[in-house]
Amino acid sequence: MKIKLVAVHAVLITGIGLLAGCGGGGEGPIVPPPPTPAEYAEKHMPSDWWGNAEKVEQGRKIYMGEANPDVNCSSCHGKDGKPVKAGATDFRNGERMKLYSDSAWFWRISEGVPDTRMKGWKSKLSEEDIWKLVLFERTFALSGKVWNEEKKQWVDAGTIAVASTETR
Ligand code: HEC
Repeated sequence: MKIKLVAVHAVLITGIGLLAGCGGGGEGPIVPPPPTPAEYAEKHMPSDWWGNAEKVEQGRKIYMGEANPDVNCSSCHGKDGKPVKAGATDFRNGERMKLYSDSAWFWRISEGVPDTRMKGWKSKLSEEDIWKLVLFERTFALSGKVWNEEKKQWVDAGTIAVASTETR
């Protein structure tokens, strides 16, 4: 009898987990992404890329499908970050997107989101390409911001110098 109860419980928890998973995209409550796996948590945007307009432009081309016809993020996420396919994450939602560290963002593009239409892109894109995509996608809601690993949050690009001296 006890075993049966445990089984029922497991099914319930899985059910809730799946529901929460659906809400992770464009609609539903804003929930932070799961913790970034260890093999990705140490990866960060090359620090001199944040203000690099050329890299942003290269990211835009990949996102729009102009660099590689096999990779077209805008076909689901929309050219202006407004999703055109149901359930795709809305990059214009700053409240949601600011919960993604640069590493989390990179991880999700590389590996995708299980059981959703968001597949992993690492077989089609180099690490550099994926960082360019993060750089471009952030312009929809976090324009001018950079991820600060010490503060664990997005900060205005202009405050970087201040932020790093503060903690010394
Ligand atoms: C076939 C449609 C489709 C394409 C093409 C697509 N995505 Fe997605 N993407 C989705 C969906 C659906 C989700 C929401 C998954 C979920 O429920 O969490 C998503 C979620 C995401 C997320 C948030 C991940 C998370 O943790 O919720 C990022 C970042 C992202 N996509 C980036 C990209 C990039 C970059 C590309 C192009 C290389 C791309 N996507 C191409 C459908 C797509």
